Amino acid sequence: MGFRFHKMLLQVTWVGVLLSVTTSASAVLSYPSALPNCQNSCGGVEIPYPFGINQGCYLDESFSITCDNLTSQPMYGDVIVKNISIEDHNIEISAYTARDCPHGHQPNAPMNNSDSPNGPTLWSLYFTISDTQNVFMAVGCDTYAYLNGFKNSESFSLGCMSVCVSASNAVNGSCSGIGCCQTEIPKGMKNISLKAHSFNNYFEVQSFKPCSYAFIVQKDKFNFSVDSLRNLPKKMPMVLDWAVGNDTWAVGNETCAVNTKNYSCGGNSTCKGSENGGYFCLCINGYRGNPYLKDGCQDIDECKEGNNNCTGKNTDCVNEPGRYYCVCSMGYHFDDRGACVHPSSNLAIKFTIGIGICIIAMLVCSSWLYLIINQRKLTKLKQRFFQQNGGLILQQQLSGQDNSSNMVKIFTTKELEKATNNYHENLIIGQGGFGTVYKGFLEDDKIVAIKKSKRVDESQIEQFINEVVVLSQINHTNVVKLLGCCLETQVPLLVYEFVPNGTLFEYIHHASKVSFVPWETRLRIAIESAEALSYLHSAASPSIIHRDVKSSNILLDDKHTAKVSDFGASKLVPLDQTQAIATMVQGTFGYLDPEYLLTSQLTEKSDVHSFGVVLVELLTGKKAISFDRPEEERNLALYFLSSLEENRLFEVLEKNIANEENAEQLKEVSTLATRCLRLKGEDRPNMKEVAMELQGLRKMEKHS
Ligand SMILES: *[C@@H]1O[C@H](CO)[C@@H](O)[C@H](O)[C@H]1NC(C)=O
Ligand SMILES: *[C@@H]1O[C@H](CO)[C@@H](O)[C@H](O)[C@H]1NC(C)=O
Ligand SMILES: *[C@@H]1O[C@H](CO)[C@@H](O)[C@H](O)[C@H]1NC(C)=O
Ligand SMILES: *[C@@H]1O[C@H](CO)[C@@H](O)[C@H](O)[C@H]1NC(C)=O
Ligand SMILES: *[C@@H]1O[C@H](CO)[C@@H](O)[C@H](O)[C@H]1NC(C)=O
Ligand SMILES: *[C@@H]1O[C@H](CO)[C@@H](O)[C@H](O)[C@H]1NC(C)=O
Ligand SMILES: *[C@@H]1O[C@H](CO)[C@@H](O)[C@H](O)[C@H]1NC(C)=O
Ligand SMILES: *[C@@H]1O[C@H](CO)[C@@H](O)[C@H](O)[C@H]1NC(C)=O
Ligand SMILES: *[C@@H]1O[C@H](CO)[C@@H](O)[C@H](O)[C@H]1NC(C)=O
Ligand SMILES: *[C@@H]1O[C@H](CO)[C@@H](O)[C@H](O)[C@H]1NC(C)=O
Ligand SMILES: *[C@@H]1O[C@H](CO)[C@@H](O)[C@H](O)[C@H]1NC(C)=O
Repeated sequence: MGFRFHKMLLQVTWVGVLLSVTTSASAVLSYPSALPNCQNSCGGVEIPYPFGINQGCYLDESFSITCDNLTSQPMYGDVIVKNISIEDHNIEISAYTARDCPHGHQPNAPMNNSDSPNGPTLWSLYFTISDTQNVFMAVGCDTYAYLNGFKNSESFSLGCMSVCVSASNAVNGSCSGIGCCQTEIPKGMKNISLKAHSFNNYFEVQSFKPCSYAFIVQKDKFNFSVDSLRNLPKKMPMVLDWAVGNDTWAVGNETCAVNTKNYSCGGNSTCKGSENGGYFCLCINGYRGNPYLKDGCQDIDECKEGNNNCTGKNTDCVNEPGRYYCVCSMGYHFDDRGACVHPSSNLAIKFTIGIGICIIAMLVCSSWLYLIINQRKLTKLKQRFFQQNGGLILQQQLSGQDNSSNMVKIFTTKELEKATNNYHENLIIGQGGFGTVYKGFLEDDKIVAIKKSKRVDESQIEQFINEVVVLSQINHTNVVKLLGCCLETQVPLLVYEFVPNGTLFEYIHHASKVSFVPWETRLRIAIESAEALSYLHSAASPSIIHRDVKSSNILLDDKHTAKVSDFGASKLVPLDQTQAIATMVQGTFGYLDPEYLLTSQLTEKSDVHSFGVVLVELLTGKKAISFDRPEEERNLALYFLSSLEENRLFEVLEKNIANEENAEQLKEVSTLATRCLRLKGEDRPNMKEVAMELQGLRKMEKHS
């Protein structure tokens, strides 16, 4: 289908080429147009076969042309031939006009019989008047005109009339009955004669004496003007259609067969029936020339003439009889799109592109896979850590609570990484055996402390969860508040409220060098810590034994309010359980309850003992245990007890702490401390009593 379409296009092009080339050929005469040894032109007009001037040079009598010796003009009968066209199968002639003038008025030179002023005839017995290219016209102001002829061997007439009162009535360029009239010519008119007449012998138009004219003229070759009424050319151009084989073809038969006798078309040509009878010849596609000659149709060399489509790079044109085709130059061949390419370059390009695409595809695929696998790994890891870190236990524990205000939030690793600027070392606020504490800034501008535990093993998981659960249940001003935790990392992270002023340990033992901590503050801190512990022991449900009470576990906020922290070792004691619980001994040397150490029986009195040590620390400003001191002074609790027995209280007290007003108070606190430090737990007061006594002492001091 596509190929056919292409072929059709090519045909169309060829026809176009044919026309334009033969046009120029009439001037260039590059193709033979007449029979050999025959005159092929006359007076500048080409005379192509089947027309000819001498006997034997034309096809038959109806194509005989004479070349006038005097005027050197080709004549067809008694009309001048202006042009002969093979392609359009017509001839252009110059024919006389018919004229009739008022008596005595001869507008042009006198005429004789052969070009009689009225009724010229065109004995064109074989050729028809072209109906498409001519028009019948009459000019005059008192005029009617006839065209008489034969159509299909029958006599036939037509005409028109033109009237005007004065020449000014006529309009230049208009031929519609005033001064000029016209009518179409029917098909197939032959052997015509023309006549022009006056209706009334020009009576009405005596004043300007116009003649009457009748003529057939090629369309657009005559434009009526007012002048035409007085002065019209003697001859007008007219077109006649011709055909060959007038006797072999019926009128109106437009087909033709090659096998008829006296067939006139030459080689490489075809024929076409004329609607006026006969036929004419055409060169087939790819040929041009005179199809009526035996070898008139000659191959068109499209390659030389350039009217081919072999314009691509490295493309050559090959001409063949009647056609041409495109080939690629040596070493090149067509690719899919019809371009000529070098096979190697083509291969190389394909190879390169192929490799490139492969590499890109592999890169994309592998990076995609890598991302997915990584993402999966990470998620799995997070899930594993979550489980490992007791996330499930915690979730169960937390879901048991319904106090939503105390709800512990479970943070994601991302949130905490952002909060700590990816655990930047500048944000470290504490470091020790337990792990590292970072200062963090949450999205809502809340400042928090994030405790990153050291690697936690399976056994410690419970402890960790413990702290979370314990703290999540506590809401006390003097207990550090747990805000949430993160279980997605290998080591669990705890998020606390940020307590800005460090630990009590630092406050007493380091700060004292720069600034002295007055007794009132110490007492208040003691009271607050005691209240916190008292709350844990009796008010919290279930009650909680801290198990690691020491000065470094008591934090101080911006107003130096105490906040008890680090519940990693704390133990929950169900309410109904009053007796001691057997546990592995845990705590800090120096604060550790000796009874607990011996029996492994944990009671809330262990915390009381440890608190006693803290009290002594507050009183003496000395560390609970210090290897810098002489051996008998190393354990502060023991040293303090022995000092008191020896009545040397004011020697061991912090320098400058005692004054006249608080001496009594100091004595009382010291006594309370010794009670807390008693060997037997049951001899020690409980935290509630301790807290109340301390508060009582402060009030007493205020009252005095
Ligand atoms: C040229 O034209 C022919 C016929 O129309 C077609 O078959 C051929 O593919 C064309 N070649 C190019 C290079 O366009
Ligand atoms: C025209 O000239 C040719 C020779 O050139 C001559 O044979 C012929 O008779 C002439 N015809 C007329 C009508 O003079
Ligand atoms: C003859 O007719 C052809 C068209 O049929 C035209 O192109 C050519 O110019 C004409 N020649 C003359 C001398 O009128
Ligand atoms: C009439 O025409 C003939 C030739 O056709 C010519 O010889 C003759 O001179 C013409 N007569 C006049 C009066 O012009
Ligand atoms: C009509 O045409 C003629 C010349 O052809 C000119 O002299 C005349 O002025 C024209 N008349 C009008 C009304 O245009
Ligand atoms: C041609 O026309 C003339 C006059 O019109 C007539 O006498 C003659 O017989 C016609 N010839 C043919 C062959 O029709
Ligand atoms: C007649 O008029 C038309 C259009 O006005 C013009 O194209 C044509 O050339 C004119 N013909 C003559 C012979 O003046
Ligand atoms: C056909 O042409 C021949 C001359 O070649 C002529 O004698 C004959 O009358 C013509 N026939 C017709 C029907 O025109
Ligand atoms: C045309 O001519 C052919 C061949 O002579 C003939 O078979 C056919 O009937 C003719 N057709 C007409 C419409 O005259
Ligand atoms: C055919 O041509 C031959 C000579 O070429 C001629 O004698 C014969 O009359 C022609 N036939 C017709 C019908 O024209
Ligand atoms: C058609 O033309 C080719 C050359 O273009 C020629 O070889 C061949 O003989 C011609 N065919 C006929 C029937 O003349």
